[in-house]
Amino acid sequence: MYLSGLTIRNVRNITNSSITADKGINVLIGENAAGKTTFLESIDILSRGRSFRTNRMADLVLKGSDGLYVGGIVGEEKTKLEVKKGSSGTKIFLNGNEAKKQSEITEKIAVQCIHPTSHLIIDGPPSERRSFIDWGLFHVKPPYKASWTAYSKALKQRNEALKRAPSDADAWEEKLLVEGNAIDEMRKEYVKKVRDHFELIRPQILPEISLSMEYRQGWPEEMSLSDAIISSKKTDQERGSTQYGPHHADLALRIKGEDAQRIISRGQQKILASIMLIAQAKDFYDKRQDPSIILVDELSAELTLEMQEKVLERLFETGSQIFISALNDSILADVLSETGAKMFHVEHGEIAE
Ligand SMILES: Nc1ncnc2c1ncn2[C@@H]1O[C@H](COP(=O)(O)OP(=O)(O)OP(=O)(O)O)[C@@H](O)[C@H]1O
Ligand SMILES: [Mg+2]
Repeated sequence: MYLSGLTIRNVRNITNSSITADKGINVLIGENAAGKTTFLESIDILSRGRSFRTNRMADLVLKGSDGLYVGGIVGEEKTKLEVKKGSSGTKIFLNGNEAKKQSEITEKIAVQCIHPTSHLIIDGPPSERRSFIDWGLFHVKPPYKASWTAYSKALKQRNEALKRAPSDADAWEEKLLVEGNAIDEMRKEYVKKVRDHFELIRPQILPEISLSMEYRQGWPEEMSLSDAIISSKKTDQERGSTQYGPHHADLALRIKGEDAQRIISRGQQKILASIMLIAQAKDFYDKRQDPSIILVDELSAELTLEMQEKVLERLFETGSQIFISALNDSILADVLSETGAKMFHVEHGEIAE
C-alpha cells in the first residue's frame, strides 16, 4: 500500500497543504520548527487516529482554528481516507462515508514509525512491546482483531464481576480461555517470524550485540492458561482484577542472559528498535505481498552517520513507502538527496515539492 496524495489542514503549524507523494522514498527537508514532524504526525493521525508524538489530539489542532483535517488517497484503488476533528469531536470517513471504528481506516493504511521515542520498545513498559506485536497481527492476521476484541470484553466483564459479585466472574472464564489461547497462539507464531527477520538484519547493522527475543505469555510458562486462572482465583477476587492472561504478556529482550534495557546505550536501543520495525515491515510484505508505510523522524538524533546509513540501507530494502525528515543543510539531507528520493521543502508550515 502507499499514500499517493495527502492533504493537511490546520494541524499544528500547517494551515493548508496538499502534496503528491512518491511510492518510494519521500524526504522532508526544513529548518527547526518548519513543520516536518507535523507532516509525519498527520500521516499517523490518518492511520491510527493519533500521533506518535502525543496522545492529546487537541494539541494538534492549529491554535485559533476550529478543527483539523487530514485526507489521504491510498493505493491503486485510490481509497479515500479522511479524519476531521472539530469542536464536536472526531469523525472519520472511508470513501466519503462516515466510518464507525478507527480500525476500518487503520486496516487500509498500515503505518510504522521510527521516531525519537522508539527506544521505548526496548526500555519502556511491557505495553509498548505488546503494542508492537498487536500492530503486526492486526495487519497480517485478520482473525486476530476479533479475538482481541472478544478477549478484552470478557476481561473487562470478569474484572467488573470480581469487584462486585465474584460468583459471576466464572461466567466469563470460558470466553477468556478460548480467546486468550487463540491470541497466545497467534502471537507466538508472529514473534517467531519477526525474530527470523530480525536475526537476518541485526548482524548487518549491529553485529556486536546479539539480542534474544522471547515471548512471555502473561502467566507461568509451565502452566496452561486454564490452570493459571484457576490457581489465581482467590487473589484475583482480593485484587478485583485478572492477573494472568495475554493482557500481561511481554517480549523478553535479553543480551547474554541480561535485560537488554539495563545494558545497552540509548543509541543502541534506537538501532535495535529500528531493526525490530524493519523486521516487522519485512513480515508485513511477506504476508500481504504489499509494502507498509514507514515514517522516520529525526533519524540523526543519537546515531552516527555510519549507523544512519546502515539503518537506511535496510529500511529501503523493505520496499516500504518511506517519509523521512531531515534538517536543512544536514549530511542526512545530502545522503537522502542522492537516493533519487522525492524531496519536499518545508518552511513555516508550507510544503513545496
Ligand atoms: N497547536 C498548534 N498551533 C500552531 N502552531 C503549533 C501548534 N503546535 C505546535 N505548533 C508549532 O508548529 C511548529 C512545527 O513544529 P514541528 O515539530 O513540526 O517542526 P519540525 O520541522 O519537526 O522541527 P524540528 O526540526 O525542530 O524537529 C512549531 O513551531 C510549533 O511551535
Ligand atoms: Mg521535528
